[in-house]
Amino acid sequence: MKKIAILGSRNGSNFEAIFNWFQTKNVDITCISDKKDALILKKAQNLQIKNIHLPFEKNYEYFSENKFDLIVLAGYMRILPEKVLEEMNKVINIHPSLLPAFKGKNAIKDAFLHGVKVTGVSIHLVDKKVDEGKILAQYPVFITSDMRLNDLEEEIHTIEHKLYPIVIEKILEDKVFDFSDLLSSKNDCKGCGGCSKH
Ligand code: GRF
Repeated sequence: MKKIAILGSRNGSNFEAIFNWFQTKNVDITCISDKKDALILKKAQNLQIKNIHLPFEKNYEYFSENKFDLIVLAGYMRILPEKVLEEMNKVINIHPSLLPAFKGKNAIKDAFLHGVKVTGVSIHLVDKKVDEGKILAQYPVFITSDMRLNDLEEEIHTIEHKLYPIVIEKILEDKVFDFSDLLSSKNDCKGCGGCSKH
């Protein structure tokens, strides 16, 4: 059985969507929060999912001793140091913009106020830089002239809840679509540097 840990500091709406998706599938979920009173932990308790309050300083010790196939950040508001990431195997995050545009905590509002007509959701690998790891999946959201900020927030969250579980499942099956597969095709490879082979 695959083991995943979902780390969050806030509402846990993505955690809930992931839980629902995997409810009838063979995946063991542990919910972890750095914040004792975070809603995400309360939701996990109500759903009777393993839940742990793990202060940020204890991450290294915990992840050295407890191994997961995948670590899923969902509203985790701390930056994980390289030393901790090395203990964690694969770590992914969801971000409410089309990265690399609108990094940071206020991505939805920043995109809206900037007047962009297309924003969206990105799922990316986590490395030591914030919102910078390799992008695994994206989905666009169009901003129409009659949309208010809260309409956009709602639409982004709806997409997040659909996209994140599917991508997690594909990662666990080792099937995430990766453009490097195309770029490394033997016949027309120009060594563009887009894949790990060049
Ligand atoms: C999501 O919008 C996610 O993109 C961002 O933090 C938010 C977490 O929301 N990284 P929730 O706690 O899953 O409801």
